Amino acid sequence: MTVLALAVGERGLVDPDEPILHADDEAFLRGRAAFETVRVYGGRPFKLEEHLRRLSGSAARLGLAQADAEEFRSLARAAISHAGEQNTVLRLYLTAGRENGGRSVRLAMVSALPPHLEELRARGMKVISAPLGLDADLRAVAPWLLGGVKSTSYAVNMAAQAEAERRGADDAVFVASGDIVLEGPVTNVWWRHERVLYTPALELGILAGVTRATLIEAAAALGHEVREGAFPLAHLARAEEAFTSSSVREVMPVVELDEAPLGDGAPGPAARELQAALREAAAP
Ligand SMILES: Cc1ncc(COP(=O)(O)O)c(C=O)c1O
Repeated sequence: MTVLALAVGERGLVDPDEPILHADDEAFLRGRAAFETVRVYGGRPFKLEEHLRRLSGSAARLGLAQADAEEFRSLARAAISHAGEQNTVLRLYLTAGRENGGRSVRLAMVSALPPHLEELRARGMKVISAPLGLDADLRAVAPWLLGGVKSTSYAVNMAAQAEAERRGADDAVFVASGDIVLEGPVTNVWWRHERVLYTPALELGILAGVTRATLIEAAAALGHEVREGAFPLAHLARAEEAFTSSSVREVMPVVELDEAPLGDGAPGPAARELQAALREAAAP
């Protein structure tokens, strides 16, 4: 994503080409930083408060300094107004700070939206399943696995995406042992049987997606029942349609799973309706 603007705690707006982190910031050394990715519609960050709450929760779980919500709001405002584009991606970062002490770095970065999202939405994604080999209920009782924490330790997630691309697909879906569906590397996962929408439960240690919460509300208004739980991959494979949700990609249809068509192999009506509802909720 092309960086359009950057605001840094105690410094304000900074040229995005300038270096920001010390080499011994644990964010770099060990991936100890919390972050958030927020979609900006018409110059307004969507659900910023929900993202700030999650950032604060991630910071606590990672043992970082508290995230100062007011500082992040102000960094976000500065970066968004400097970006010069109305529809962008805002990312917020809070690092652990330098190894031998020193303040964490706080920054807000605004980037252009990734290209081709609408083409992908129109054709739908092909996904592969990616086993993690974890018991489905382990992350809930093993805090060191950082289930539900949005930290910059995303190398495994990126490797799963790369593996999907290597196999000619677009993305991956993580599964726990027993083939229990968890989430995508950067998305929550959904599927539909008749009027019922299924999505993995937060108790599985998946990220509590802000978009997921928005869609749970929107789905009820559209007459869908939503069931959260521990569901096997075979249940997803037999669905009439499937999609993922995330702030950046919004509602993204899934049309193929492990090289087999999902539903009729085309984007489905619930994904379309929910995408429209999400855009309506986000309309400035
Ligand atoms: C692992 C993971 N799950 C789900 C999501 C979707 O969350 P949100 O809807 O808040 O963007 C993300 C977003 O980055 C993610 O990284």
